[in-house]
Amino acid sequence: MGPTALEGDQPYRTAYAADLSEASVGERIRLAGWVARRRDQGGVYFFDLRDASGVVQVVIDPAEVPAARDLRAEYCISVEGPVRLRPAGMANPDLATGAVELAADQLGVLSRSEPVPFIIDDRAEADERLRLEYRYLDLRRPRMAKNLRARSLAAAAMRDTLGRRGFLEVETPTLIRSTPEGARDMLVPSRLRRGDFYALPQSPQLFKQLLMVGGVDRYYQIARCYRDEDFRSDRQLEFTQLDIEGAFWGRDGVFETLEAVVQAVVERLRGVTLEPPFPRLTYAEALLRYGTDKPDVRFGMEISDLSDAFLKTKFRAFAATLEDGGVIRGFNAGKQEMSRSQLDGLATRAKELGAKGLISAVAEEGGTLRSQTAKHLSEFETAAIIEDLKGQPGDLLLLVADTAAVAAQVLGQLRLQLGRPDRHDDLSFLWVIDFPVFDEVEGGGLAPSHHPFTAPVDLVEMRERPRTAIAKAYDLVLNGSELGSGSVRIHDPEVQQEVFDILGISADESERRFGWFIKALRYGTPPHAGFALGVDRFLAILQQETSIREVIPFPKTQTGIDPMTGSPTAVDPVQLAELGIELRAGVDADDPDREDG
Ligand code: AMO
Repeated sequence: MGPTALEGDQPYRTAYAADLSEASVGERIRLAGWVARRRDQGGVYFFDLRDASGVVQVVIDPAEVPAARDLRAEYCISVEGPVRLRPAGMANPDLATGAVELAADQLGVLSRSEPVPFIIDDRAEADERLRLEYRYLDLRRPRMAKNLRARSLAAAAMRDTLGRRGFLEVETPTLIRSTPEGARDMLVPSRLRRGDFYALPQSPQLFKQLLMVGGVDRYYQIARCYRDEDFRSDRQLEFTQLDIEGAFWGRDGVFETLEAVVQAVVERLRGVTLEPPFPRLTYAEALLRYGTDKPDVRFGMEISDLSDAFLKTKFRAFAATLEDGGVIRGFNAGKQEMSRSQLDGLATRAKELGAKGLISAVAEEGGTLRSQTAKHLSEFETAAIIEDLKGQPGDLLLLVADTAAVAAQVLGQLRLQLGRPDRHDDLSFLWVIDFPVFDEVEGGGLAPSHHPFTAPVDLVEMRERPRTAIAKAYDLVLNGSELGSGSVRIHDPEVQQEVFDILGISADESERRFGWFIKALRYGTPPHAGFALGVDRFLAILQQETSIREVIPFPKTQTGIDPMTGSPTAVDPVQLAELGIELRAGVDADDPDREDG
């Protein structure tokens, strides 16, 4: 390095890039970071110096500092010089430090960089696989740095709020016996007990309940959970929950605490003050009015049940649906300028979602409907549709005649397609309460709607009419996403056993799988309740991201792969042998005819 290099035991920096402002003009500052967006003008080099705080423009004259000639994108450097105002007209109002620049007269190259595979810049959108392969470079982008910072601030706000309320942060194990939460377990083979497996926790559910038996009055944990389930933009194999449980506690206590936590996080990240309590909606009402148990209530287009108006209809399709126990429902999509082919597109979408068809009608002046179906409808029926859906001339009305479940699903999805805002500028929180205890599954059996440790509202009801019984279960919904779930738990071992019975888990099987847990419930278990908030989903919404992958430092791709480390990978046959595992033909990584799961 030449005489202009930074040398000796000087500190790498005396300030962060974002510290520089008009107030720093005239000061000599040293910065350390990466070279971004270099451009040359009249023999002088300009680049943005990026560090963890942000960017600031650096000007360097290679005639004065020859080493500057070798600078390339993403070189890690330290520069020093006076801060000065940018010349008139050259200020960048989009940049926090845009009024000033550092006129570097000293430069030290701390380490060089290979040419980078994509431009490290929020404006350039690189392919996601490439971004994940070079996640360490992707994390240098200001947007990703901001997301990481937001995540840390959110965790701090959660800890603050819960700590002040007397909650204890307790860790629970990650090598456990399987806990059922509805997904497939991730398994870890045991070497010391060959042939046996640990499961990774789908959530800390049973351990947090055991903490209640153990006298921990208020528990929380920012816990990693593992579920081997299909990927979506809001699902990962491993994800993070803010997990909470309290003894001698019930639903309203859980709500009040969660509202305080959510409020603290939103305040910290958005600077917005929420006004709890959040509205509550029953599960049944959510399905009826929004067609989903996670309604986005930022916009109207509420669904109405129109069945009563068609009890005497002559329109065959509607009459047949009602005779079969189905419903006629619809919503007002407002003034939508739609071409014929766009309307056909909606009908196709409705069919993809399971409907037999979609009826679209436009309300007209004079109380009539423009629609292919209109001629089948009586005047009374037409008037009822317009009145129930509050149709103004020009409004597009969409109707589905089908089973209640299909009508809800189809109308709920179309409603989102037509009305959902793209960005999360407004935050609409909502509690959905009174979930059923059980859902029907294919083949007619029952599965827990939440999980099998959830208390029913009424025990007799659950025994006698399990298919319609209501649970003390609740979800927190934000802008149409399920942020979290919880429930009041069963604390009576006999009731817990009854739930297993209803689920068709034999006494033998429940003894084998859950005997250890039911045993614990027999030792004076306090009534308890809790909740788990999906931290990744919450952050993605607050940070205006469409995928939780953008707020997870090292996520997997949609297909469960980490392109950076190449995991999952085959392992050494010696490791397998130690575990007593032999891969059968077809699943050996070296097998040319290997089948994928
Ligand atoms: P539940 O299974 O509903 O409840 O999970 C709670 C919340 O965790 C988030 N979540 C996920 N986030 C990312 N990727 C996934 N694969 C994923 N799965 C779930 C969601 C969800 O609402 N033990 C119970 C809670 C309780 O009863 O206290 C539980 O885990 O935001």
